[in-house]
Amino acid sequence: MYEQQITVLGLGAMGSALALSFLKVSLKTHVWNRTVDRPGVRKVVEHGGKFKETIASALEASSLIVICLYDYYSIYAALANTFEQAFRSKTIVNLTNGTPSEARAMSSWMHGRGVSHYFDGGIMNTPEQVGTPYAFAFISGEDEKAFDKISRPLNSIGRLDYLGLEPGAAGLYDSALLAGMYGLFGGTLSAIALLRSQPSNDSSKAPTSKVVADKLIPMLQALLPSLVETAEYFDKQDWRGHTANIGIQEGGLRNVLATCQAEEVDSRLLRAHHELLVRALMEGREMEGMAGLVRDLVKK
Ligand SMILES: NC(=O)c1ccc[n+]([C@@H]2O[C@H](COP(=O)([O-])OP(=O)(O)OC[C@H]3O[C@@H](n4cnc5c(N)ncnc54)[C@H](OP(=O)(O)O)[C@@H]3O)[C@@H](O)[C@H]2O)c1
Repeated sequence: MYEQQITVLGLGAMGSALALSFLKVSLKTHVWNRTVDRPGVRKVVEHGGKFKETIASALEASSLIVICLYDYYSIYAALANTFEQAFRSKTIVNLTNGTPSEARAMSSWMHGRGVSHYFDGGIMNTPEQVGTPYAFAFISGEDEKAFDKISRPLNSIGRLDYLGLEPGAAGLYDSALLAGMYGLFGGTLSAIALLRSQPSNDSSKAPTSKVVADKLIPMLQALLPSLVETAEYFDKQDWRGHTANIGIQEGGLRNVLATCQAEEVDSRLLRAHHELLVRALMEGREMEGMAGLVRDLVKK
């Protein structure tokens, strides 16, 4: 039997998008938020969400509870004064962003209070994308059978990728994907800063947004498959170089840094990568591929 009711704790941008997706598939949705006067609260209530004044009454309303607060500290703060009885036999799905060790500690904390199942998750899309084909979440903790029971009521969010028993697994995948994302963001911020220095008296000057849309994005799209190749080389522990070896990459990035300096653009987001390339060169590894650099990042 699948749950017909659900409780969402936290109606910020993400929590309210989750609650709306549950309402859309006709789950009776109970909600709680620390601050009542919030746009997310108003929107969810307008769409039929049942607002609960206290966190204890929100927990009592359903046996399936989704938590989406700012961070793990917020969860402990919000639940600090809740009696253990309120957690008994509940299934908790925590979609708050955090680290693997926070997930493991939260799993122990929840089980210590008598929850029947604790799943930790990472939601990998924006609130606007919840319920679209772009939405997916990593979920870990408990076993496949228990996961199957929550997957039906939760799949209105998007695809759910179950990663097994270890509660920290979702947090690790989440951090790894965000590491890739922040690399992309850092590079793009530097690119926009460089583009702003196109001569302003030149009538052919394109808005930075147009250069990003027409030039940067197609170039990145063409490069994306090479990320898989880099990971494949790492999996095989094969450090042999290919055309884009460390020697070539160092030269390219050195020129980017020189351009930043000339254009008075802060290159701090790119320098750490260059330092890694230089160190590999000093060790005579210029013919290695990019996968070789992963060895320099791994500390254990
Ligand atoms: N937004 C995104 O694009 C996105 C994408 C993926 C994952 N996430 C993750 O989803 C989670 C929620 O993000 P969001 O975008 O919804 O953030 P948000 O709009 O800033 O909302 C934060 C929520 O946390 C609550 N909160 C903060 N401190 C609290 C405390 N001490 N006690 C009780 N409640 C507290 C806020 O309540 P009040 O309204 O009372 O302040 C609000 O409900 C985060 O972990 C975030 O990393 C977000």
